[in-house]
Amino acid sequence: MKDQERLIVALDVDSLEEAKKIARRLQPHVGAFKIGMQLFTAHGPQVVKEIQQLGCRVFVDLKYHDIPNTVAQAGRVLTRLETFMFNVHAAGGREMMRQTVEAVHEEADRHGLVPPIVLAVTVLTSISDQQWKDEVGGRRGIPGQVVHWARMAQEAGLDGVVASPQEIGAIRKACGDRFVIVTPGVRPAGADLNDQQRVMTPGQAVKAGASYLVVGRPIMKASDPVRASIEIVDEIRAGLRNN
Ligand code: C5P
Repeated sequence: MKDQERLIVALDVDSLEEAKKIARRLQPHVGAFKIGMQLFTAHGPQVVKEIQQLGCRVFVDLKYHDIPNTVAQAGRVLTRLETFMFNVHAAGGREMMRQTVEAVHEEADRHGLVPPIVLAVTVLTSISDQQWKDEVGGRRGIPGQVVHWARMAQEAGLDGVVASPQEIGAIRKACGDRFVIVTPGVRPAGADLNDQQRVMTPGQAVKAGASYLVVGRPIMKASDPVRASIEIVDEIRAGLRNN
């Protein structure tokens, strides 16, 4: 994979025009764009199609958590939309994940399409240890639960997980080299942390074993987003070279 393919830019805006404008500029320099709840809620599948028409791959980040049939059917729709990747909550259960992957592959075969990469979301990084115990009722510690769910996702046939930088090592060890790890919470050396707490630089994240990096504000809010993207890809390249 080319170094720049590892960079996924989070299009966290709600204007379709703004999303297209930034995608058009960044497309030659990055691997894909992430469309999350904000943009998808505002514009639906149309925004996915319009970004794809610019020649870009799209990660649909809607974190499905519902009964197996419902998520599997949504997975079929995303397959027909030629989504590059999408995600479901591991907390939705093994059977939900299994049926979703099965449906995605069946749908892709039927239409002669490439199946999307299906990822599991494990424990949201916004959940503290205290909340995990008191509100969610988690009995294992968060790191143990993350690895447990990553293994479960792999057994259910998913391609990988979305994980914070500090979880990459344990997941790589548990799930092997071919498992896809998509990592947000990445900040170039010297960048503003915003609300992200435990961050890694792009170089550190790929060295730790991340397959793809999701970066939002350090690119979207940069005075020169193209330059910011190129610099991140340079950091990725340097990180991989020193591996
Ligand atoms: O702007 P920033 O680089 O922090 O954006 C990161 C993107 O990754 C956002 O779209 C955010 O919703 C997403 N994300 C995250 N942390 C997670 C999961 C997803 O920041 N644990």
